[in-house]
Amino acid sequence: MGYYLVEGGKPIGGEFAVRGSKNAALPILAATLLAEDEVVLENCPMIRDFYLTLDILRALGCRVELTGRTAVIDTRQIHDVKIREETVQKMRSSILFLGALLGREKRAVLGHPGGCAIGKRPIDIHLSAFEKMGVEIQEEEGLFYCSAPHILGYQIYLKYPSVGATENILLLAVKAEGVTVIHNAAREPEIVALVRFLRACGAEIYGEGTPSIMIEGVKSLHGAYFSIPFDRIEAGTFLCASAMTGGELCLSGVEKDDMETTIDVLEKTGCRLTFASDRLWMKPPKKLKSDFSLTTGPFPGFPTDMQPLIMSLLTLAKGTCMISETVFEARFRHAEELCRMGADITIADRVAQIKGCEGLIGAEVFGTDLRGGAALLIAALAAEGKSVIHGAEYVERGYEKIEHAFSFLGGSVRLME
Ligand code: EPZ
Repeated sequence: MGYYLVEGGKPIGGEFAVRGSKNAALPILAATLLAEDEVVLENCPMIRDFYLTLDILRALGCRVELTGRTAVIDTRQIHDVKIREETVQKMRSSILFLGALLGREKRAVLGHPGGCAIGKRPIDIHLSAFEKMGVEIQEEEGLFYCSAPHILGYQIYLKYPSVGATENILLLAVKAEGVTVIHNAAREPEIVALVRFLRACGAEIYGEGTPSIMIEGVKSLHGAYFSIPFDRIEAGTFLCASAMTGGELCLSGVEKDDMETTIDVLEKTGCRLTFASDRLWMKPPKKLKSDFSLTTGPFPGFPTDMQPLIMSLLTLAKGTCMISETVFEARFRHAEELCRMGADITIADRVAQIKGCEGLIGAEVFGTDLRGGAALLIAALAAEGKSVIHGAEYVERGYEKIEHAFSFLGGSVRLME
């Protein structure tokens, strides 16, 4: 298992081009199963979860060629409809193949995803929507056997604006008979990206980015040439790293509208942020400040994926901040590790109280999930002295060679296998 060796105390700053979005790319890869000819994807993120998802496509019988950041995918020759339990448990997002395989082959077998480090993460919202649209689901020995001779458009009311459920229903509905409307749909930029990809393949979809999305089923979808949009959480991660270490940062390839709440919170800490076309400049204050409260929520709320990163930053801000994590029930595991670096954080159920401290001290700490691991890494960049951050395998799932990126921006970070 890999770990990062970090020598802290150096400003992280300069120019950085944000890479393609993990959480946009993964559902789009599943969606390629619905295209009846070749798909070309540009600006692909070179990260572990992307490679794992390409392997799932190959295992199903698809032809996949990856050259640099360009993936050429031809799914015409698939010979399987099963996503094994170990695959789904290794990478939860593979549940999105359920909607795509049913939309394509009218049948699918999916392993039970199980929970992970940040919560139980059930799929009841996905399955109840699928049953309403005509999918028959049998659960046997940890596998879901699904079949749908006819997929019927339906008025779906989500009890929670689940990102994955919205994506899975979109994948099932694009070739359904009739019209589907998703009410209380997720509004994340990754949903908008998936819809734009499906529309490029000939789907009839309206209302993405709003709480109601209408899908008019079509007979078939053709291929497309599509560029994966930027990763707003990677952008936020680098902004926090620079703000914590007193570096000035210029990000390129970013969309202001997708980062409003992250920018708003960073401005509350005293950072100055300026946008011009797709570039974002950030200049941190001499001393970060807090004394505000923050609640995570579905888009356009503050992103839960940014919660660990902003918590790291707030450990160094003058004042006290309260963070309420409303999306996942167990997403504060990084707090304990931050306290081992000198942070002053108290957790009560789903609320964290962060009191700013004078400075963090390097330590040996353990990441147990993607964003929690990244939060420990940026804390180590700001800490005095050396740190060892275990759990690099989690961080590599969502950040491309982050050790190179931070070293390029002035940090001292090495990945040790
Ligand atoms: C997506 O996960 C992202 N993953 C997560 O990013 C992100 O944190 C999350 O959306 C929220 O924004 C990908 O896009 C690959 P949800 P997803 O369904 O779809 C509950 C990262 O770090 N729920 O919106 O699984 C669920 O338990 C990852 O990049 C049900 O109860 O999120 C959770 O509490 C982490 N039943 C809440 O909804 C269901 O059927 C939000 O989950 C589905 C979800």
